[in-house]
Amino acid sequence: MTDADEPTPAPDGAAESDPTDAARSAAPSTSAHEPLPTPTHGVGPWPGEWPDDPRYDSELLAEGDRRNVVDEYRYWTMEAIVADLDAKRHPFHVAIENWQHDLNIGSIVRSANAFLAAEVHIIGKRRWNRRGAMVTDRYQHVRHHEDVDAFTAWAQDAGLPVIAIDNVEGSVPVNRAELPEACVLLFGQEGPGLSPEALAAASAVVEITQYGSTRSINAASAAAVVMYEWCRRWG
Ligand SMILES: C[S@@+](CC[C@H](N)C(=O)[O-])C[C@H]1O[C@@H](n2cnc3c(N)ncnc32)[C@H](O)[C@@H]1O
Repeated sequence: MTDADEPTPAPDGAAESDPTDAARSAAPSTSAHEPLPTPTHGVGPWPGEWPDDPRYDSELLAEGDRRNVVDEYRYWTMEAIVADLDAKRHPFHVAIENWQHDLNIGSIVRSANAFLAAEVHIIGKRRWNRRGAMVTDRYQHVRHHEDVDAFTAWAQDAGLPVIAIDNVEGSVPVNRAELPEACVLLFGQEGPGLSPEALAAASAVVEITQYGSTRSINAASAAAVVMYEWCRRWG
């Protein structure tokens, strides 16, 4: 399902646990050098008679489920989870330009999973750094496009308007902007932001209002803000 050529880290099970969750559930340490206790999130082996439901994974039932998934999906196979998500995905898509191997992409994939985006589109380099995705890419459809032209052709074919998200001349503040129910939210990369080609492909350009001294927030934060705003309006 994932159209990226970096290897997917590890199979289902403990390797999918989220170290940030582990840190959250760990008791406070008294010394900076003390090792953190074993994480306590997730569930142990299924108690009693096993359920007769093909969505359940026998290995997880036997050994417990420490994956970074919501409780509703405990013990479910990955395929069953993806099928359930597919049945209720939101109609917005997320796209990001990837000309410099941007570290934000993993976090954007994770947020796209959390906000139930239909698909994530990576424009440019095929390889992307999966670290920030925290394995959520296994549950998220990710499609690669060689360049902006290929991406634009796909969006046109799918009948989806491209909404560029960047703080450039003429951008409309997100609280006043139209965010169509079915659309592609297109983000730029650290440093240059959206390319001129990407901006030209968009039917609107939307910015997030800022109040401090920095020119911009990082692309992953911007993506989370706008996905949340889309969900607030349409979710
Ligand atoms: C770190 S920004 C760099 C470009 C930015 N135009 C600048 O002037 O510095 C990278 C990407 O994050 C998103 N972004 C960051 N801050 C934003 C804001 N305030 N409004 C809309 N998008 C933003 C955009 O998609 C942008 O292309």
